[in-house]
Amino acid sequence: MDVPFRSTCPSDDSLVWEGRADSAAACAAAVARARAAQPGWAETPLDERIAVARRFGDLVRGDAGKLATLIARETGKPLWETRTEAAGVAGKVDISIAAQAERAGERRSPAAFGESVLRHRPHGVLAVLGPFNFPAHLPSGHIIPALLAGNALVFKPSELTPAVGEMLVRLWREAGLPDGVLELVQGGRETGAALVDCAIDGLLFTGSARAGLHFQQHFAGRPGFMLALELGGNNPLIAWDGDAETAAAAIVQSAFLTAGQRCSCARRLIVPDSAEGRATVDATLALAARLRIGRWDADPQPFMGSLISADAAAAVDRGIERLTTQGGTLLGDAPAALPGRAFRAPVLIDMSEAARDDEEIFGPVLQLFRVPDFETAIATANRTAYGLSAALLSADDALWARFLARSRAGVVNRNRPTNGAASNMPFGGTGASGNHRPSAWYAADYCAYPVASAEAASLAGAAPDLSAYLDGGAR
Ligand code: NAD
Ligand code: SIN
Repeated sequence: MDVPFRSTCPSDDSLVWEGRADSAAACAAAVARARAAQPGWAETPLDERIAVARRFGDLVRGDAGKLATLIARETGKPLWETRTEAAGVAGKVDISIAAQAERAGERRSPAAFGESVLRHRPHGVLAVLGPFNFPAHLPSGHIIPALLAGNALVFKPSELTPAVGEMLVRLWREAGLPDGVLELVQGGRETGAALVDCAIDGLLFTGSARAGLHFQQHFAGRPGFMLALELGGNNPLIAWDGDAETAAAAIVQSAFLTAGQRCSCARRLIVPDSAEGRATVDATLALAARLRIGRWDADPQPFMGSLISADAAAAVDRGIERLTTQGGTLLGDAPAALPGRAFRAPVLIDMSEAARDDEEIFGPVLQLFRVPDFETAIATANRTAYGLSAALLSADDALWARFLARSRAGVVNRNRPTNGAASNMPFGGTGASGNHRPSAWYAADYCAYPVASAEAASLAGAAPDLSAYLDGGAR
């Protein structure tokens, strides 16, 4: 290994980053440096760890323009969107500090013998593997809470976004993070595989369900290993009643934001098989056809940029072909010319009469299901092995109560898009979407383990009164 690799801008194939993929030996060396640095970092008072994280947040804020431009160049996402990602990384620091205090802080309760104390301890050295779609925000969702908790980390960004990963680590070092506490390795799956085979105590992973399942099998038989899996989805959106144009806006935002490259994007639209349902579909098609698609730096800004690569766009084409082979019918007109090989227009495909398909297509593809009644709508929504996000568009409180009670997903919204998860809430899924280690507000839970202590100041606290059970007179 140790081979050269590069990242390019998907809008025009221009070079963004060039370097080398790290070998197994380089991964082992990075883990060894992290191992050596971890005890010192864990012993650093929490206030000082918080101060480093706050300096990191300030540096991100100061460099937000540069970070947003780099994310946009490396992913093809429009600048308006990457600016919100950069701001989200800076904002994540205070949210993670508050979440840690609530979820993994210290709690003392008085007891007859003295006090009961709940504390949390870091796991040790953790690997972080990041995805490409939010190359700064999502790894930071692991890195910030894991560092606050006193872990040392070895981070491998997606092979499609090495430059953003490198910038994040540079900002942490400039913030005063001690050497070795956050190591960076670069490369693709081979480097990732070499890293997870090193002597680490856990893996914090955001990415595809396929890779997540692989890791779950890989680490089977190691109950002490911390494996946090944030995986994909095949998310349903039921649009049941209300104004068609308003519903269409929520549907387009759910399905086509980030060119459909969000784990929480709606993949399946479920509507009543009625005039109202047809009006919603027509309004959605009309709105989707008007969405501006363009380069990340175009002025005026597009709603959707490119996909991450021409290969990803070709994978989306294969997904659409699979759906049509299974009986799906493409709706709407063929799109006008697109600005490059990695761009794709929104697609709506009627799967009501088609064979069942439960694979995530990570792009702007929305499957339509027309159903006779609300019961079938809920059953259709739950007909997936995944369980990340789900939403209902309806003014009817009774329908919402039924949907909420029966939905199998970690995010269940009403009259809101399926995506745009809030950092001050847990974010994770059921089924194939994860392993019940939600991130965001609950990330603090998987970054440390609880230690319960019964504490008495003097040895007398350890001595129970056994006199009632003793033979042979008083002690
Ligand atoms: P991916 O699984 O292809 O890659 C993610 C990371 O894991 C990359 O760094 C990659 O190099 C590494 N990797 C992949 N397979 C590996 C293996 N076998 N061994 C070692 N390392 C490996 O995911 P992606 O294409 O970058 O991201 C898109 C996917 O992530 C989608 O499925 C999306 O739904 C999911 N996602 C989930 C969330 C969430 O929070 N639940 C958020 C964003 C994206
Ligand atoms: C994602 O993490 O891919 C999406 C988060 C969101 O927008 O809900």
